[in-house]
Amino acid sequence: CAAGIKPEKEGMQMLPFSAVPLWVQLIKTSSNIIIPSVEDLPEEWRAEKKLFQDQAIQSLAAVPMVHEKTVVGFVGFDSVLNKRTWKEEEITLLRVLTDLLAVAFQRKSADEALRLEKKRFQILIQHAPFGLLLINSEGEFTYANQRFTEIFGYDLADVPNGKTWFKKAYPDPSVRVDAISAWVNDLNTYGVGEKRPRTFEVQCKNGRRKIINFIPVGLETGENLVAFEDITDRSSLEERVRQTQKMESIGTLAGGIAHDFNNLLQAMGGYIDLLLLEKNSEHQDWPKLKAMRKAVDRAAQLIRQLLLFSRKAHAERRIVDLNQEVEQAVRILERTIPKMIKIELHPGRGLWAVNADPVQIEQMLLNLGSNASDAMPEGGKLIVETENATLGREYAETQAVSIPGMYVLLKVSDTGCGMDRETVKHIFEPFFTTKEVGKGTGLGLASVYGIVKGHGGYITCYSEQGQGTIFKIYLPALDKNVADKGEGEEFDQPEGGTETILVVDDESDIRDMLGEFLRHFGYHTLKAASGEDALEIYKARNFAVDLVILDLNMPGMGGRRCLDGLLSINPKVRVLIASGYSERGQAREAVSSMAAGFIGKPFQLNELLGKIRDLLDRI
Ligand SMILES: Nc1ncnc2c1ncn2[C@@H]1O[C@H](COP(=O)(O)OP(=O)(O)OP(=O)(O)O)[C@@H](O)[C@H]1O
Ligand SMILES: [Mg+2]
Repeated sequence: CAAGIKPEKEGMQMLPFSAVPLWVQLIKTSSNIIIPSVEDLPEEWRAEKKLFQDQAIQSLAAVPMVHEKTVVGFVGFDSVLNKRTWKEEEITLLRVLTDLLAVAFQRKSADEALRLEKKRFQILIQHAPFGLLLINSEGEFTYANQRFTEIFGYDLADVPNGKTWFKKAYPDPSVRVDAISAWVNDLNTYGVGEKRPRTFEVQCKNGRRKIINFIPVGLETGENLVAFEDITDRSSLEERVRQTQKMESIGTLAGGIAHDFNNLLQAMGGYIDLLLLEKNSEHQDWPKLKAMRKAVDRAAQLIRQLLLFSRKAHAERRIVDLNQEVEQAVRILERTIPKMIKIELHPGRGLWAVNADPVQIEQMLLNLGSNASDAMPEGGKLIVETENATLGREYAETQAVSIPGMYVLLKVSDTGCGMDRETVKHIFEPFFTTKEVGKGTGLGLASVYGIVKGHGGYITCYSEQGQGTIFKIYLPALDKNVADKGEGEEFDQPEGGTETILVVDDESDIRDMLGEFLRHFGYHTLKAASGEDALEIYKARNFAVDLVILDLNMPGMGGRRCLDGLLSINPKVRVLIASGYSERGQAREAVSSMAAGFIGKPFQLNELLGKIRDLLDRI
């Protein structure tokens, strides 16, 4: 404004169009407005005239400002002190000035749009559900979003370039070589804008390993944009399901084989025992027969492991204090494993009880202990720990344990040679061993797996090469305190008798061998090849059978229904179930429902004699 003239900016701001209708109409049609004398404005300028006069404007000139063919405003001069006639060149000057302002305005609004766009992208990138990383053509990391750091723990200071990234993310040199060559190969194969997803296991800053989907895209600028998706939970879940299914089918196969072998071994072992009974230790065949017996026992032990793996082994569950079992097993291990291995036992306090088969738990600990011992030929530490563990849903979903709840955790760790990741994947498979021929059968962990599964539990293995191995076993806890543990069953010196025993088994070898054996000890024997036969014989004998030895797994009505039949004929019938194969817990069920006793196949004959006497002498 000229000197002494008050600016009218305030008054003019927010002025409605209706206050200056003619003015607006002219400006909108891109007309210049030249008014030499406000005083002489005609009637139709009434509204504008009042406004001009209120501001003491005498003359004015204005030109519309056009931006991209749209009128966005106007620029003008007001003359307040005196009237004036606007010269042609003044109007031209005004026009030029207005055009310049229009260009500046245009640039300003484009900058603003760009700024907003950039801001929007920044927000998007910062909060993207993927980790994002920008890499320049020199391999330097120039930008990493928030999610990138959330996933890996690394920020740009930790991993300023590809070289450090590869070193930190893939500490295992052989994996690193694979990752780098995949990267280089992709760079050479794909063009700008093409995607080439890859999956790699990456080590994070805190040492945790994550499974990551990489989606790198080459940009026109020569840079690479890489998106990272953390699929650890998803893929470990899939892997677990696959693994469980695989183990189930191997279990079915192994269980079938073991069952058949069990029967064969029973017959072989039985006949060897018979031959031994008929001879004394001076006999020339005695050492050979003893050696055969030993081989059969060893085979039976292997079969037992297989049955354990396939969860077909008979289990006798009771309320167990895991600390007591662990202590016992550790005592055995202390005697059996080399002295240079130090065993540490850390029993958890107030440990919840578990419903478990103590014999199987001991077997499990011995297998784990013997593996640990093998892994520490130079000596080391074997640590056995127990503790209560309540696992919430969140933990259960992502870890090996799929049902949340109360567990007792048994941890067995060693400071041995450890395993590579590929080995860990297979350790629970039966017959998987890395030990030399004759040293390992590969059944140790398979049976551990079967035992844990059979108890409704879970097992995990974590191992680092050269560092050691940790097995974690979660057994479902009982909502009770540990009750007194019953004493284990003991067998008396074998003793015969004169009672009548009915042997029911579909395998003729076993039937005959048992018959002969029992007769040898003074018993009268009857034989049946099926459940149906057994019922008929039992009925015909009209109570003159003192004991029935019953196989469970037979064609036809099978052992379970035969037991029911016998019980309905005589509720006091004494039945000894003989089975190595407790399909879906049949044996357990049978024992709990009225059978007098159970003996696991393959059994030693004197063990059988003891059981028989025990049952017959019961009142
Ligand atoms: N604590 C451990 N440290 C290192 N490697 C182990 C450990 N436990 C098991 N392994 C590996 O797992 C493999 C399988 O173990 P598993 O107990 O099933 O069979 P094994 O020990 O080879 O034979 P078996 O137990 O039947 O005599 C072993 O051969 C070994 O490579
Ligand atoms: Mg082993």
